[in-house]
Amino acid sequence: MNKPISGFSKFSKQEKINWLSQTYLKDSDTSVAVLEQYWHENEKLQQLHDEFTENTLSNFYLPFGLAPNFMINGDLFAIPMTIEESSVIAAASKAAKFWHSRGGFKATVLNTVKIGQVHFLFKGDKNKLEDFFNFCKPKLLFAVSSITKNMEKRGGGVLDISLRDKTESLEGYFQLHCKFETKDSMGANFINSCLEKFSETFKSEALNYEQFSPEEKQIEVIMSILSNYVPECIVRAEVSCKVEDLSDDKLTKPKIFAEKFLTAMKIAEIEPYRAVTHNKGIMNGIDAVVLATGNDFRAVEAGIHAYASRNGSYSSLTHASVENGIFKFWIEIPLALGTVGGLTNLHPLVKVAMEILQKPTAAQLMQIVAVAGLAQNFAAVKSLVTTGIQQGHMKMHLMNILNQYNASNAEKDELVHYFKHHTVTHSSVSEQLEKLRA
Ligand code: MEV
Repeated sequence: MNKPISGFSKFSKQEKINWLSQTYLKDSDTSVAVLEQYWHENEKLQQLHDEFTENTLSNFYLPFGLAPNFMINGDLFAIPMTIEESSVIAAASKAAKFWHSRGGFKATVLNTVKIGQVHFLFKGDKNKLEDFFNFCKPKLLFAVSSITKNMEKRGGGVLDISLRDKTESLEGYFQLHCKFETKDSMGANFINSCLEKFSETFKSEALNYEQFSPEEKQIEVIMSILSNYVPECIVRAEVSCKVEDLSDDKLTKPKIFAEKFLTAMKIAEIEPYRAVTHNKGIMNGIDAVVLATGNDFRAVEAGIHAYASRNGSYSSLTHASVENGIFKFWIEIPLALGTVGGLTNLHPLVKVAMEILQKPTAAQLMQIVAVAGLAQNFAAVKSLVTTGIQQGHMKMHLMNILNQYNASNAEKDELVHYFKHHTVTHSSVSEQLEKLRA
């Protein structure tokens, strides 16, 4: 157990499972059978999944669902969502329908600049470094011309490179702070390739720069990497309607609702404990669409949470106002997404998701994702300030509880009917199931 395994990645899949079974599963036939049960019978499809990552043993399924009725900028969308949490798609669909009859969602991409940095140490005269940078900048841009050629044809490329002095925070620390436009690709590979070329060129040019002393010639690059913080790649989505139009069959006091909703927003703006949960609800919608469309949800999560703290304290991503009797609710978030490259052209379900969304550009996908986050937040906060969250949440969770008790289809039908008019809790479900079985 304490001896590391060497060459694991070279084992065949069967050998890996055998090793796992003997080492950690204590020869558990059941676990191995489960791993194998999730293999796809279509060998080509399975091989595709095997090759997504190293050491693939099996496939991990998540539900792929659909939230219809999203009116976005006048067009009607059905949004594919990949998520395990029972109430998320139901909540999104409810919010979509609610706003469909109130003018729908409006979404705008404000900008699409991505960032990458070469982090380096320079011990010497800062003015000389500045001169060297200005001398070197055209050479840096020239050095990446073979990488940027195709991107430029699509309207993207390197937008700017600047030298940033960070020596106040760390001795000798400077950056090449680079801005990119990557059009419909998320751009991680493009940006990182450019940055590594910048770094190589910058170092070699420094060695030949006559004004530098021998010590100054030794620029030490620490790393070259894109930033997942993209505060200049922002999308805004909003809904609005007259306060009195907020009423529906259950919501009969729209003015009181609007006031409570606004207070809930203010709380999320000023109180980090609430803001985190508030934003988590937003991410329920965002991550689900990001995953379904084969995008990098870790990058999106990291960037959005950093943005939520940009003013020095973690705060809400959504805001609301009532002015002249108009209720307005909006979100502004950074999103670096792609609709070409990466998994988007590879994973069969991602291709389906893109088709459902009418093959969006990256900018259109930014709008759809922001709307999904806004809708999710509206549904959550609406429930929170009216009925409470558990009523709807537990109703959707009922099937999970029934499955935990191995309920048959007939038992499920009976109890779903019963709980239409009764409160779902773990114990009430277990009690009713026992009664039924007795
Ligand atoms: C649960 O996944 C998300 C909520 O907690 C979000 C919120 O509290 O706003 C319901």
